[in-house]
Amino acid sequence: MTSLKDIRSQFLDFFAARDHHIAPSAPLVPQNDPTLMFVNAGMVPFKNIFTGAETRDYVRAASSQKCVRAGGKHNDLDNVGYTARHHTFFEMLGNFSFGDYFKEEAIDAAWTLVHKEFGLPADRLTVTVYHTDDDAFDLWRKISGLPESRIIRIATNDNFWAMGDTGPCGPCSEIFYDHGDHIPGGPPGSPDEDGDRFVEIWNLVFMQFERHADGREVELPKPSIDTGMGLERIAAVLQGVHDNYDVDLFKTLIAASVDLTGRPAEGADKPAHRVIADHLRATSFLIADGVGPSNEGRGYVLRRIMRRAMRYAHGLGSRDPLLARLAPLLVREMGGAFPELQRAETLIVETLRSEEEKFRSLLDRGLKLLDEETAKLADGAPLPGDAAFRLYDTYGFPLDLTQDALRREGRSVDVEGFDKAMAAQKAAARAAWAGSGDTADESVWFDLRSDHGATDFLGYIHDAADGVVQAIVVDGKPVETAKQGDKVEIIVNQTPFYAESGGQVGDAGTIATDDGAEIVVDDVKKRAGVLHGHIGTVKKGTIRTGESVHLAIDVARRARIRANHSVTHLAHAALRDVLGDHVAQKGSLVAPDRMRFDITHPKAITPAEIAQVEARVNAVIRQNTPVETRIMPYDDAVASGAIALFGEKYDDDVRVLTMGDSLDEPGKPYSVELCGGTHVRRVGDIALFKIIGESAVSAGVRRIEALTGEAARAYLEEQAALARKASDALKTTAEDLPARIEALVAERKKLERELAEAKKQIALGGGGGAASQEEEVAEIAGVKFMGRVLEGVAAKDLRGLVDQAKKKMGSGVAAFIGVNDGKAALAVGVTDDLKDRLSAVDLVRAGAETVGGKGGGGRPDMAQAGGPDGARASDAIKSIERAMGA
Ligand code: ALA
Repeated sequence: MTSLKDIRSQFLDFFAARDHHIAPSAPLVPQNDPTLMFVNAGMVPFKNIFTGAETRDYVRAASSQKCVRAGGKHNDLDNVGYTARHHTFFEMLGNFSFGDYFKEEAIDAAWTLVHKEFGLPADRLTVTVYHTDDDAFDLWRKISGLPESRIIRIATNDNFWAMGDTGPCGPCSEIFYDHGDHIPGGPPGSPDEDGDRFVEIWNLVFMQFERHADGREVELPKPSIDTGMGLERIAAVLQGVHDNYDVDLFKTLIAASVDLTGRPAEGADKPAHRVIADHLRATSFLIADGVGPSNEGRGYVLRRIMRRAMRYAHGLGSRDPLLARLAPLLVREMGGAFPELQRAETLIVETLRSEEEKFRSLLDRGLKLLDEETAKLADGAPLPGDAAFRLYDTYGFPLDLTQDALRREGRSVDVEGFDKAMAAQKAAARAAWAGSGDTADESVWFDLRSDHGATDFLGYIHDAADGVVQAIVVDGKPVETAKQGDKVEIIVNQTPFYAESGGQVGDAGTIATDDGAEIVVDDVKKRAGVLHGHIGTVKKGTIRTGESVHLAIDVARRARIRANHSVTHLAHAALRDVLGDHVAQKGSLVAPDRMRFDITHPKAITPAEIAQVEARVNAVIRQNTPVETRIMPYDDAVASGAIALFGEKYDDDVRVLTMGDSLDEPGKPYSVELCGGTHVRRVGDIALFKIIGESAVSAGVRRIEALTGEAARAYLEEQAALARKASDALKTTAEDLPARIEALVAERKKLERELAEAKKQIALGGGGGAASQEEEVAEIAGVKFMGRVLEGVAAKDLRGLVDQAKKKMGSGVAAFIGVNDGKAALAVGVTDDLKDRLSAVDLVRAGAETVGGKGGGGRPDMAQAGGPDGARASDAIKSIERAMGA
């Protein structure tokens, strides 16, 4: 028996020998197509080559492409399990000519492979052509020698293939295999063509047009070839079985499912095992290609597939996660051809397990509710829409799961009623938003969110991508078009632009349309939690809702943001190393020009500690190891030691960033953190780390500010230039600068002291002898009084002066007011013999009031005060004189 693996190789080898470039399968999430949920045909990764938008260094290629058909135009989900040939995941074998060969060579290759290599007898083969395609008809006659009766002209869309509502398309020709008259069904085009006897095995598309969103079909630059042969179907034919689920790989998977559940592969349980085997493939491959279960978009389709499989597993009596237990077998079977499965094995198993565990309790209760509801109904009566909605809303049953569960009893669901209940709930949610005051203008975003779902962020991998404009918002209102000069906020279905979150600023860049419109995007904000609002100005032309656009971020700016973000992780780890494990992140800002990082730490970080942090971070940067990203369930991430931020809300599945090698414990990473931001590919991309500031934010919270890369280098150069300037000014070298500055400071202190001394001398006697001092002593109410205003004498020197004056007078009152920077400082002294009659405190208060001061304090023999109005110092002396009784 030729195994599935062998058939895949045989196909690729056949086309390699015919000079085809063998392309590895592209990921399931389309990289350059905004309109498509998943790659659903072998030609999708080559779409832009067909249309001429892109060229490669080959003009013919072949591949075995992973495909998922479980959403959008080609959706097979509901049929899977009940038919012989429907899959959500399958491989499409295909050969492609990009303006190179056309119909003749394509038909020749197909016939040679199918008839000569695979050895399928001609009398088992029938082909179809599009009804007007005489060329194809004649070529089949000539090349295969099939009788005209087995070259059937078909007038319907069955023989006109299109990738989706837009994209390359063209008439096609299909090869059918006749499984024999023991199976009911007629040849293509006959009334009973829907029977299972004649099975399409290969579709040859003669690509000639590109279909645009407005319905126009434009000729491709050159006629091309796209073919598709389902690997599972051809394997069934070559293995002599009628049913895809009887080919080797499916037999292995189903046997394992039978083994784990103890339920037979045939009879009533047959569909369940098939659903499980098929959905296991779809979910594992989607997870390996970066899709995680969620309630939006691609993640929701994944969740629907998983939950459908889980319901069937439950129906088989399985109470332990079944898919998670089967996944390793799938990885063994298919990991050779698809190494991404091997790389993601743990992630696949963990995701399946946590999703199965989460869903199981809901499933029990939901199925019970479903039983109760159907018990109330007459035989065959449809389930009311509100009951189906309750199952969806409360128990996470997607509508198709409920429909599927009722299928065995031959019961349907009132879908209209379901839609109505859904619409009513959305309206209620909107009303709640609109009613909450300042969030009223936010309601536009919630409306858009319920209409379009989350924006798909492609920017972890792509700097540019195409998207479809879902909404244009001007002045808070959605509009159909915006023109030059308009300030807009644009929502697209998918984008490479990061929206501000987790401290990282939004991206800047441009959005352009095919007909020349250009929007400059300055910032991107998250709206209603899940939409990326591209905020900017239309610089040229007109942009319309529904239009396809090219989105390109400012790559240089993002590179700086990446470096500044990655370095916060390294700095976080280094701060914990140097300061201790009490350090927790309190906030951060990651901008293109700098990063700011706040941590809990009770005191200032010393320069020596800063130097250590810098040295450690730079040592890790120099390791230049690759930065690793993984997606895993939150609990597992935290259990594995990843640092999560307190107070931050995380999804069930989180991104875990691992950077650098530990500086102390060989084999351990340096930093492991949960993070949704964008990061450098290798730590060396950060280049250099320099802390430029350390400050307090609030009690117990310190902030560092830092630079990376070129900004850090420029900063260091500036510092060096400053040192040079300073040493030039002092006519010394940078090395001697500290010593010179110390000497200058010491000298200055000495001079200040001498100056203060000189001022005191002047205060007490104009710099002269005792005589002049005596002259300054007055007599007020029989008491000696010395009162002076002393410009430039510091408050701290007044007390000493007052003491000296008291001593000189023997008995009396001394009042000195120092005036510095326009402010007054007062000191009043009363000799002991007088302090029962006159209190220095009262006197100093009287003076202070005049200079605008309040209070004053001290003892009856010595008191001090101050006031803002130094210009009134002489008046204050008079006030003191009056208080003495003048
Ligand atoms: N693209 C064509 C198909 O999917 C070959 O059938």
